Amino acid sequence: MKKVYLVGGGPGDPELITIRGMKLLNQADVVIYDRLISRKLLKYTEPETELIYVGKSSGKHAMKQEEINQLLVEKAGENRVVVRLKGGDPFIFGRGAEEISALVKAEIEFEVVPGVTSAISVPELSCIPLTHRELSSSITLVTGHFAPGNENRVDFSALMADTLVILMGVNNLPEIVPQLLKRRNENTPVAIIEKGTTEEQRIILGNLGNIVEKAKNSEVKPPAVTVVGEVVNLREIFRRGSKKC
Ligand SMILES: C[S@@+](CC[C@H](N)C(=O)[O-])C[C@H]1O[C@@H](n2cnc3c(N)ncnc32)[C@H](O)[C@@H]1O
Repeated sequence: MKKVYLVGGGPGDPELITIRGMKLLNQADVVIYDRLISRKLLKYTEPETELIYVGKSSGKHAMKQEEINQLLVEKAGENRVVVRLKGGDPFIFGRGAEEISALVKAEIEFEVVPGVTSAISVPELSCIPLTHRELSSSITLVTGHFAPGNENRVDFSALMADTLVILMGVNNLPEIVPQLLKRRNENTPVAIIEKGTTEEQRIILGNLGNIVEKAKNSEVKPPAVTVVGEVVNLREIFRRGSKKC
């Protein structure tokens, strides 16, 4: 049967994959995986499983998106169980929709297995809840990275949610923060969580007035989640109760 499973691999900690995702890795003939996937997840596969790395990082792509789409179609055409293992959740800024479009076009069945997205879990595991009855009734999840020629797609000055979660934003913070300051106070708390849920996790705390400089001095690099809003201050209190934060 021609079928591709798009499996969310979670944010980095290998224990944060779903049971369904883990079972499918065990049944897979082929696993096509991304850069932000914990390599420990590949231990759930059988020794004969074909493992294909197709990771992308800014400017360096092991494989172009069109080639990945084609690979999925090809491997499914060999009648093998294909798992497309993606970071976080497949549909959150993961180009999962493009991969599915290619499969639909080729008349190949697919199934999506949701994953724990970094957008929520990385702040959460840093003791930053994104909602709070008094501090945050709304969240905006936004990308800080834009396709070349599409730099103005998001007007950050117009984002009014209590809490902003920015993925892929650290390289563009010097452009994003001045836009946020048009509507928000410079004392608005900001957290940048780099390599969240992994042993290399770092958290840079600041506010809209100083975060660009702090990020630069700390040499923050992707992958990182940026959280803007009063909920960031809860971390100081909540971390007293959890060694994991
Ligand atoms: C292409 S997007 C994919 C997001 C993924 N689909 C998800 O649901 O988490 C990659 C971005 O997710 C964020 N990200 C993913 N894993 C992360 C981690 N462990 N720590 C911090 N940020 C992470 C970063 O903003 C990174 O640049």
